[in-house]
Amino acid sequence: MNLEDLPEEPEERCPAERREEEAAKVLERMWAHRSRRAFEEEDLPQKDLEDCVAAAQRASTSSFLQPYSVVVVRDPERKRRVYELCSQQQMILDAPVFLALCVDFHRAEKACRDQGKELAPIDLETLLIGCIDTSLFAQNLLLAAEAMGYGGCFVGAARNHPLELARVLGLPPKVFVLFGLVLGRPCDDPMPMPRLPLEAVLHREQYDLESVSAHLDAFDAQMRAFARRLNRELQARGAKKVNEDRGFRDRLAFRLSTEKRPSPRDRIESCLKNMGFLAEGEG
Ligand SMILES: Cc1cc2nc3c(=O)[nH]c(=O)nc-3n(C[C@H](O)[C@H](O)[C@H](O)COP(=O)(O)O)c2cc1C
Repeated sequence: MNLEDLPEEPEERCPAERREEEAAKVLERMWAHRSRRAFEEEDLPQKDLEDCVAAAQRASTSSFLQPYSVVVVRDPERKRRVYELCSQQQMILDAPVFLALCVDFHRAEKACRDQGKELAPIDLETLLIGCIDTSLFAQNLLLAAEAMGYGGCFVGAARNHPLELARVLGLPPKVFVLFGLVLGRPCDDPMPMPRLPLEAVLHREQYDLESVSAHLDAFDAQMRAFARRLNRELQARGAKKVNEDRGFRDRLAFRLSTEKRPSPRDRIESCLKNMGFLAEGEG
């Protein structure tokens, strides 16, 4: 390739109508995030999707590996099969697109083989790299979509049946769906979910062990107040109310304690091994 054939500088490739750089706009956009789970029937044009994916690709990537791919599912029949494998979440059927965000080491394996080499076993560190980079790419993608007036919600349930989902999407070995993302023109208006107090996540110089209980107390109270406010809204709409007694501690224990409900995702490690990850080395 000649030097003059190289693609233009990234700033020049960013579509002119999207070149708005003020920090305030970016922060405002980030603050406006809510997971959106209901959508207009309107399609999401391929050009807009491509702009989102190209912007997402600007995310930092470990050692410049770019170990991810995204499979876009629009076909209603295939989307229905994805829906069946992802806890039958209605938003998957209703959104015009389902994106499967994949950790992808197939490309790396091909690159090694092309040079007469073998890809080393994908150990935990390499898997972490894949998950980190795919997540950075995915969050950038959602942010770009939100900036264009779309909305969406990630779908962790895409890890419920990894092997079956890989078959539906035609994934080669060493590629798996880390999570999904439904995208479209949103038509719901969910209340913004609160977040932990800043001081709970921002530590100065060293981890502040002393304050953990106080932050949990504060956020427990905030979550209960949030549930009361949410219930006023749900009641007005005649919708089912949420439990007002459940605080943040309850939520953490529900998902993470030894008493958590069994989940298909408990088998994720053996599924990953089946898909070419976390294989034992030769020695
Ligand atoms: C990796 C990941 C997987 C998620 N999976 C699901 C899911 O399967 N279903 C769902 O309704 N929401 C899912 N969510 C959305 C979270 O529930 C949501 O981000 C969280 O409750 C905070 O709400 P907010 O995004 O509106 O601020 C997921 C979020 C992430 C980051």
